[in-house]
Amino acid sequence: MKIEELNEGFYEKLLTIWEKLNASLELDYILRNAMAYLEEVLEAERSSIWELDEQKEELFFRVFSGGDRDKVEEIRLKIGEGVAGHTAMTSAPVIIEDAENSRLWSVKVDERTHFQTKSILSVPLLFREKVVGVVQLINKKNGGVFTGRDLRSVEMMCIPIATALVNAKLFKELEQTFMETALALADAIEKRDRYTAGHTRRVTRYAMWIAEEINLPAAEKKWLALSGILHDIGKIGIRDNILNKDGPLGSGEFETMKQHTVFGAEIVEKIHSLGKVVGGILYHHEKMDGSGYPKGLKGEEIPLFARIISVADTYDAMTTDRPYRKGLSSEEATKELEKMSGSQFDPDMVAAFLRRIPREVRDAN
Ligand SMILES: [Fe+2]
Repeated sequence: MKIEELNEGFYEKLLTIWEKLNASLELDYILRNAMAYLEEVLEAERSSIWELDEQKEELFFRVFSGGDRDKVEEIRLKIGEGVAGHTAMTSAPVIIEDAENSRLWSVKVDERTHFQTKSILSVPLLFREKVVGVVQLINKKNGGVFTGRDLRSVEMMCIPIATALVNAKLFKELEQTFMETALALADAIEKRDRYTAGHTRRVTRYAMWIAEEINLPAAEKKWLALSGILHDIGKIGIRDNILNKDGPLGSGEFETMKQHTVFGAEIVEKIHSLGKVVGGILYHHEKMDGSGYPKGLKGEEIPLFARIISVADTYDAMTTDRPYRKGLSSEEATKELEKMSGSQFDPDMVAAFLRRIPREVRDAN
């Protein structure tokens, strides 16, 4: 294809978008930007990117212009269904001049969006010859029809879009595998400690409640979740006779037990990409007044993740049965947290947890 066959200025814009798609983590923003540009150049009323859900063999909207988000988000098309489904099935682009009289047309989308589709340009998003989605431009303005030149422009734009979608998906899968591996590792440690089944998952859940209450940014939440999952990973280095003792620990034994924070940090420190979770592991037994361990840090010297996990961890320890004592009720445990707010715990984290816990207890019953 020659550059002059594309719409004017298209090639330069394509290069800019290409560059952004490869560099940006805010994928949807860039995708919307690319589609807005296509709409402008091709003089289309609307546009959308459908992504393929491989398992369900369905297409769903990844990005769209116009329409009520709630209504549009739930629309799914089977492969072969409607124009987008047909495009995905055949891996071939299609130009439709009069949607209502086309045998490929499915009224489903218009019914939900209260929009009248007239003309369509539908192009498959291909990655290594496999369909990963479909790009559509809808209704050429002034009653016109989409041209071969329009098609070539969209096809050029589809190359970086398809690559970006595949990369994003791979990244997500990798992240999920990593989280599951960390959970499996934490579960393995819990298997040794017969009193704490499910502790890690509960602590992580409580920590996430606090994170939501304090509006922790999404990216930070991921790191906090990992910190929660791995907070007691250092218990792998604690001997069974101490870890599983049927009663309170003697002072020497307690000194050994304290080491789990340092061991955990040492294990995780070796994984370069996990730098952000080390603080939550190493300092989750520190106290605001400086009487905690391992370092005796005070107040905000204690990293935020550790201040959050500390509240979550203690609440779970208090509400769980141990061989030598029965667990407290949620009400009793929250009263204890309140009592220790400021001295042991960050008052803001306790307040966040206390805001959330009544709702969760109510929903669980
Ligand atoms: Fe711990």
